[in-house]
Amino acid sequence: MNALTRNVLESFELPDISKHLASRLEHSYLCHRPDDDISFDYGVTKGQYLGNDESLVKRIITAYQGSFTGQHSTVESMWFTWIGPMKEPIHEALMEGDFPAVTEFLRDPSSSHLFQGFDNLVVQDDGSQLVPKYWARWMAGWTYDALRRLTEAVGARPMAYPEGSGQAGKAGSGVPAPDELLRDLDDSFGFRIDFPNPFQNEVGIPTSRGTATYRAVHALYQAWRVKQLVEGKPDAKVLEIGAGLGRSAYYARKMGIKDYTLIDLHMTNVSQAYYLGTLCGYDSVILHGEDGARADAFKIMPPDFFLEGLETYDLIVNVDSFTEMSFAAASAYMYEIKKRARCLLSINHEANEFTVAQMVSEIGEECRSRTPSWIRKGYVEEVVYLLMPNPEEPQDIATEKVKSGNKWWRRLAAVRQPDAKPKGL
Ligand SMILES: C[S@@+](CC[C@H](N)C(=O)[O-])C[C@H]1O[C@@H](n2cnc3c(N)ncnc32)[C@H](O)[C@@H]1O
Repeated sequence: MNALTRNVLESFELPDISKHLASRLEHSYLCHRPDDDISFDYGVTKGQYLGNDESLVKRIITAYQGSFTGQHSTVESMWFTWIGPMKEPIHEALMEGDFPAVTEFLRDPSSSHLFQGFDNLVVQDDGSQLVPKYWARWMAGWTYDALRRLTEAVGARPMAYPEGSGQAGKAGSGVPAPDELLRDLDDSFGFRIDFPNPFQNEVGIPTSRGTATYRAVHALYQAWRVKQLVEGKPDAKVLEIGAGLGRSAYYARKMGIKDYTLIDLHMTNVSQAYYLGTLCGYDSVILHGEDGARADAFKIMPPDFFLEGLETYDLIVNVDSFTEMSFAAASAYMYEIKKRARCLLSINHEANEFTVAQMVSEIGEECRSRTPSWIRKGYVEEVVYLLMPNPEEPQDIATEKVKSGNKWWRRLAAVRQPDAKPKGL
């Protein structure tokens, strides 16, 4: 029995899940190297003092109340049926302007479902704020593999070579310490990587720069891909749809991308505003309804800001998100992207009803490249270059151009919209 399987089975707390995970990992189904080349030491964050956050929390409440219109009931997805109801108490606290309760939710996400669906820090089913030991090890192993893979993706370390034996078989093998990997990555990224841990009870790999969580390592990869795609354009305008906690935005800024907009559900905007606001400074974020379209601030906005706006972007990014939305919601984005972006980067799985490739083809475009994601098995990375209509052209001609080749979108527009949706999103 190999090391990882042994470790998982040793901490047998939920037999069925442990067995399932152990067998998947033993077959390297999720990771990119043999289990013996994976470290599964884990650390748990203690959290940091977040300072006097009163003004930020008040802004978040105001933005939420102002942006929650009850619209976007277009979305017959898990975000409304499954995840939405879990966030109901947070929605109520925000709508009632219950400042102490909202502050508590924001300061300690391990006590609620605030991050449910986009980050790993959530209250457990039994009310515990800590994940079980077997799960912590499993997550650490998966995160360590991702960090190793990141060094391989950027070329900071040689690829593991499964076909080799002897000298060749040693390429990319062993279990280098996470700090060694980070030193190699610093040069490729051009800044000293850090892992800020504002919240308690996050699980990840311990490093001298903070606990590296699964999503943080992926965010580094995503920011690096964004940087590649806008290389040579120092003032590039980037928009991310479905940005999770805002971790990629955090690292993109470190890589020199200043003009970054995050479009997400109203409830996810709340977490993004607190995360980026506390880490980068309260004036680094602009929220719904606030003045000041500063290019160098994170613009954290609900879907309408993009769907009903006119701004154009050099790059629009969507990771692990389009194919988890409803058909209607995702297609509304695609339609606007076709009109308002020069390039789309999608990193999504294809396990649901529709794929990004289908959507791209149906709006009359094609993916310039389609490759497996370097870092996450089961995810496809696609890049689409788009010809935005010339803003100088009369609007009706420009719009017609976009709409031709867009029969599929018109079919989608006819999709029945549900009348009601749960609150909280
Ligand atoms: C699985 S998370 C992925 C988060 C992040 N991209 C990552 O890779 O870690 C899906 C994201 O899509 C967002 N999302 C879901 N439905 C959406 C919609 N209709 N419009 C915009 N964002 C949406 C969620 O709030 C969440 O941020």
